[in-house]
Amino acid sequence: MNQVVESVDAEEFPADVNSLWRYSLLLPVTSPSFVLSLGEGWTPLVLTRRLGTYYGLRVLRVKDESRNPTLSFKDRGLCVAISKHTELGATAFTLPSAGNAAVSTSAYSAVGGVPAFIFMPEDTPQSFFQDCQMYGAITTSNPGTISDSAALMRKSKESWTDLSTTKEPYRVEGKKTLAFEIAEQMGWSVPDAIVCPTGGGTALIGIWKGLDELEAIGLIGTERPRLYAAQSGGCAPVVRAFEMGADTVEPWKNGETKAYGLRVPSPFAGRLIMRALYRSGGGAVAVAEHEIAATVNLAAKLEGLDICPEAAVGLAGLSNLIESGQVDYDEDVVVLNTGSGVKYRQI
Ligand SMILES: Cc1ncc(COP(=O)(O)O)c(C=O)c1O
Repeated sequence: MNQVVESVDAEEFPADVNSLWRYSLLLPVTSPSFVLSLGEGWTPLVLTRRLGTYYGLRVLRVKDESRNPTLSFKDRGLCVAISKHTELGATAFTLPSAGNAAVSTSAYSAVGGVPAFIFMPEDTPQSFFQDCQMYGAITTSNPGTISDSAALMRKSKESWTDLSTTKEPYRVEGKKTLAFEIAEQMGWSVPDAIVCPTGGGTALIGIWKGLDELEAIGLIGTERPRLYAAQSGGCAPVVRAFEMGADTVEPWKNGETKAYGLRVPSPFAGRLIMRALYRSGGGAVAVAEHEIAATVNLAAKLEGLDICPEAAVGLAGLSNLIESGQVDYDEDVVVLNTGSGVKYRQI
């Protein structure tokens, strides 16, 4: 898209394009020849009857992002960002990552034929390093968290394009398609609430932006789902900020969780995350670390879903929200399964 779009008919989105590129009218890549697609997006919104009944909810759906090409929702943002930056002339990419963004960056850089330089904490499951290397990326590991990976990247950085979470605009552009798809799959309406496992916050921020765009072009009205950030109690800077009524997110010391993608002690876009939570009327919820494995098992046994630990934090977070009365039994709720569990089972 290279023009200002004021109104769009749903029919203008090509129904035969079963990827996020059905919304290319609302995406930043100007020339189709720069679209580096592996078929990302247009993932199923699974109605989870047995899990819904387990939690006592009227409607529970899981947006199953494990079906993306590299098995996580990171493909949305990184496909759009790498396509756009390549169009702008980028010749190499770098980023610090908790794992899934690294694999995604490596794959789309391979599609574009440009090198990728990845920085990850050394305790990230080995399968993430192996996948990046398989796609031809150069990986570097460090002690500590993704914040330490970022510091190391900044020291090493040459003329590489930095794709760090929310430090460039196009990953959020890709993530906003989550909102487009959820609304379209619900017949251009929105659920009562969406629960997002939250680390750096691209999904939350992207969904909020996507909903605003849908309203601006006349596809939905002023109604909004309440957005909830779910985090592990071992690293919950957004939850703490929400409980304090703060506008910004203060760094969390010694963040520790097996939901590696949520181990983001100091999200760069804290202010935007908090704004989306407050404006939507939602909130933030912490989950005890021991609930993660139990919830992964529950989703597998009740629904045949292979969810990642981060998504387990989302589902367990929903359970806590129901218990505390913040989500009502009569509501229609979407939880993001942000990725597949397979990469976390060490080979
Ligand atoms: C599987 C998974 N879920 C959730 C997240 C958190 O996403 P965000 O950083 O957009 O909040 C990550 C980030 O690495 C992830 O890998």
